[in-house]
Amino acid sequence: MEKITVVGPGRVGESTAQILAKEELCRELVLLGRQEGVARGIALDIQESAPLFGFDTRVTGGADPALMAGSDLVIITAGAPRKPGMSRADLRDANLPVITTILDQVMHYAPQAMVLIVSNPVDVLTYHAWRHTGWARQRVFGLSGVLDSARMASFIALETGFSVKDITALVIGGHGDTMVPLPRYTCINGIPVTHFLPPDIIARLVEHTRQGGAEILALKENSSAYDSPAAAIATMVDALVHRRRRVLPCVAMLDGEYGQRDIAFGVPAILGGTGVEKVVELPLTEEEKEAVRRSAEQVRASIGATG
Ligand code: 2OP
Repeated sequence: MEKITVVGPGRVGESTAQILAKEELCRELVLLGRQEGVARGIALDIQESAPLFGFDTRVTGGADPALMAGSDLVIITAGAPRKPGMSRADLRDANLPVITTILDQVMHYAPQAMVLIVSNPVDVLTYHAWRHTGWARQRVFGLSGVLDSARMASFIALETGFSVKDITALVIGGHGDTMVPLPRYTCINGIPVTHFLPPDIIARLVEHTRQGGAEILALKENSSAYDSPAAAIATMVDALVHRRRRVLPCVAMLDGEYGQRDIAFGVPAILGGTGVEKVVELPLTEEEKEAVRRSAEQVRASIGATG
């Protein structure tokens, strides 16, 4: 990929830019923020690590949206993070206008780009991005499942003592406390986790996964997670850049899959060179279907409240 823009030089944006540059996932990387000096300063700081890590990515920063011109991918991490005591609705109302302004800039300066939404509430904002741009659903998607599944895989590794390299977890649904971790599709080198752990332990790890983001926010008090979100974003970008066609859970627009349409929702998808190439529909038990329905209802209610 030639050019990637990260909008929002907060902790998530900065960590993401560091990884993308270090992994040489693009030739040109732009960090856009409202404060010119902050964006330029972070970009320069990352650029100066290039000789040490040995990467040739050119990193620039600034406040002028024209800097994103011609980007192949725009990653939006801008907006307020959740603070303790803040409801998701508060965050939605604060971030919707921010994202709308950025989307207008993307449509103007990077009309061919794919858009990866990271800002929260990610399902609502991804839906909004799709509606606002009018772009194909393949090009507009969000982060959630890769992060939530990584959290679940980490907790399983810590519980079992097995190498995390062998663990693949799968979490679908909204990126909130109704998310749907799927132990039946969570494996340790192909062997379902249910073979190794009893139901009560799995239930505890599922709940821990649902609370993963909130737990970090509560511990740090005034900052959400950013290291694992940035690693999750980089995983998605790697799949796009290298046209890997990886099966990764993403926030994708649904058009009948999982019995849902006109909603952005966490589902496994094939992520390749053109974005979300296909949503993967899994057979679910009645209990799993019910959990998906509940989560979709919550996301839909939040989308509906945006008018
Ligand atoms: C997280 O789950 C805040 O969405 C972010 O950590």
